[in-house]
Amino acid sequence: MLRIGMVGFGNIAQAHLAAYHTLEKEGKDIKLVALCDIDPSKYLSRSQAGSPGYIPDGESGSIEGIHCYDHMDKMADNEELDMVDICVPTYRHAECAIHMLERGYHVLSEKPMARTYGDCLKMIDAAKKNNRYLMIGQCVRFYPEFRYMKQAIDDGRFGKVLSARFERIFGGATKAKGGNKTWFADYNLSGGGMLDLHIHDIDLTRYLFGNPTAVCSTGIGFNTKFDCVDSKLMYADGKVVSAAADWSLCKGISFTATARVACEEATMIYSGGKLTVYQRDGSIIDDIAPRDGITSEIDYLTDIIAKGEPNRLNPPESAAETVRLVEMLARSAEDGGARLDFPEKMF
Ligand SMILES: NC(=O)c1ccc[n+]([C@@H]2O[C@H](COP(=O)([O-])OP(=O)(O)OC[C@H]3O[C@@H](n4cnc5c(N)ncnc54)[C@H](O)[C@@H]3O)[C@@H](O)[C@H]2O)c1
Repeated sequence: MLRIGMVGFGNIAQAHLAAYHTLEKEGKDIKLVALCDIDPSKYLSRSQAGSPGYIPDGESGSIEGIHCYDHMDKMADNEELDMVDICVPTYRHAECAIHMLERGYHVLSEKPMARTYGDCLKMIDAAKKNNRYLMIGQCVRFYPEFRYMKQAIDDGRFGKVLSARFERIFGGATKAKGGNKTWFADYNLSGGGMLDLHIHDIDLTRYLFGNPTAVCSTGIGFNTKFDCVDSKLMYADGKVVSAAADWSLCKGISFTATARVACEEATMIYSGGKLTVYQRDGSIIDDIAPRDGITSEIDYLTDIIAKGEPNRLNPPESAAETVRLVEMLARSAEDGGARLDFPEKMF
């Protein structure tokens, strides 16, 4: 049984909580045993609504049988944990992950890996020194639809890739407007739409096609420096790849992600949470069963930890490369869309 503690209980932690419920119900040999958040009101409201008994200094407090703490060290001191799942704001990923790795836990930490590439390298170093697994929640890699795309591209069943376009929109920046500013509205803390939202598709392009040889990007700010971005990624074989993200949209516009990969013999389109493959002969493949990416990433990481297997799908070195690439896109956008060579990867 792998025993897990969660650090941070804000928005995305709710999706992680649901994922643990799903996996535990499916009979997976894992258990979310504890939570911590430096702002206990985050789970106080849940415990009042659902299961009373939470006591703010932790120890005997719980939500649905999960013990609650107001500091990660209190949680670690009081619980027997194997892994921690870090869902804190981006600018705290590195400090929390390194601290927990040094305390001897395997770590799953939300995307983006860290606010800077330099911090990503420190996280990798801490994982190596302490001989622990570190995986970053680049959850898009784990959606069955994108794993299907990856396999189809790798085995060449539809011929070579000609072009690809990815787009992600979200009324996210509005939550930082109107006097209700959160850390997302501070570019230094969140990296804006460029690092927070665009990174999903930039990681996806690297997952599907590897590193580009050169990039350029344009971006404009709304709350932060870059909230609307459009990037072009150049590859040695000439395929035409671009990605866009927009974080500036008005309230009421919900999150949407679309992807199109055109190959010689088929066009793969991801839209509305579904992948459809249109083949040159007119036939269609649309029977790829969906599954939530966060559930799938936790399933994968806890599996490889239990089996002692290497992380082939999403190693931290690759997540760090994605942050390095996003930093280069930001530099290009600062320079009005300049074309920049993307030097060979470091790992
Ligand atoms: N995988 C995805 O698709 C996805 C989606 C949304 C957010 N995210 C990422 O998840 C991270 C968190 O985003 P969010 O929307 O949940 O933010 P949030 O502000 O809603 O939640 C963060 C929580 O962490 C707590 N916290 C801060 N420092 C802490 C510490 N040292 N110890 C314990 N708790 C601490 C805060 O009190 C807060 O409750 C961000 O990096 C974001 O980019 C990922």
